[in-house]
Amino acid sequence: MTDLLAQVDRSRLPRHIAIIMDGNGRWARDRGEDRVYGHYEGVISVREIVDACGALDIGFLTLYAFSAENWNRPKAEVDALMELLVNTIRKEADDLNKNNVRLHVIGDFVSLPELAQKEMGEAMEMTAANTGLNLILALSYSSRLEILGATKKLAEMVAGGILAPDDINEEVFQRCLDTAMFPDPELMIRTSGENRISNFLLYQLAYAELYFTPVHWPDFRKDNLYEALLDYQRRERRFGKTSEQIQKNNVPNV
Ligand code: IPE
Ligand code: IPE
Ligand code: MG
Repeated sequence: MTDLLAQVDRSRLPRHIAIIMDGNGRWARDRGEDRVYGHYEGVISVREIVDACGALDIGFLTLYAFSAENWNRPKAEVDALMELLVNTIRKEADDLNKNNVRLHVIGDFVSLPELAQKEMGEAMEMTAANTGLNLILALSYSSRLEILGATKKLAEMVAGGILAPDDINEEVFQRCLDTAMFPDPELMIRTSGENRISNFLLYQLAYAELYFTPVHWPDFRKDNLYEALLDYQRRERRFGKTSEQIQKNNVPNV
């Protein structure tokens, strides 16, 4: 078997990887199981990818775990997902802490069940001083709602006379988003063959490299991540410039 990890150029890694973890339901149904079984198995992939990112010194990993739209799923599935969230955090928090991982949440935190808020809150507090991987869970997350929230904050500042409309720029706007503390992702991975963004980090992904794979999330393991990184490292990130300009300046692909 080829050693994919050995091929990854450690000097040209993304600082921030964002993942839409999709396909749990189909993975389970393919095995004649309930969709919820796929969510359970998906947790093993989360553990593996968090481990791999930590070992590679990736600074930020954002995982889309539950969208604002996912509240519209059957109640039994939503309840099972919330229970899984609580149990997983409870089980994994100590290990995350030992591995120097710092946990964050983006999304409509207060819409989560109280128990989930409590467990997440405690895990975030426990890991707050950690300096390794920043693990950002997108929970009850909607990028459009996040952008609207930022717009409202800015409107209030303008109405309150503490900000002039002319002073609103990308930096000021970015500071009003849930992701204010994080750099934009350079790489966005979506599993399970759907080629869409599904209301995920619409502003932040402006120049991300997008990687779509047919692999369902419960099958997405370390080697699949390394494949995505190798694909990313083969790309030329031009940011509007020409290929000739990029090659002349020998700008690193980061
Ligand atoms: C992703 O898998 C997990 C969540 C959205 C919570 P899905 O549950 O969307 O699985 P598919 O897309 O139906 O296969
Ligand atoms: C997006 O997946 C949200 C998460 C992965 C948590 P969905 O499976 O819900 O997305 P759509 O609705 O099919 O686009
Ligand atoms: Mg899906």
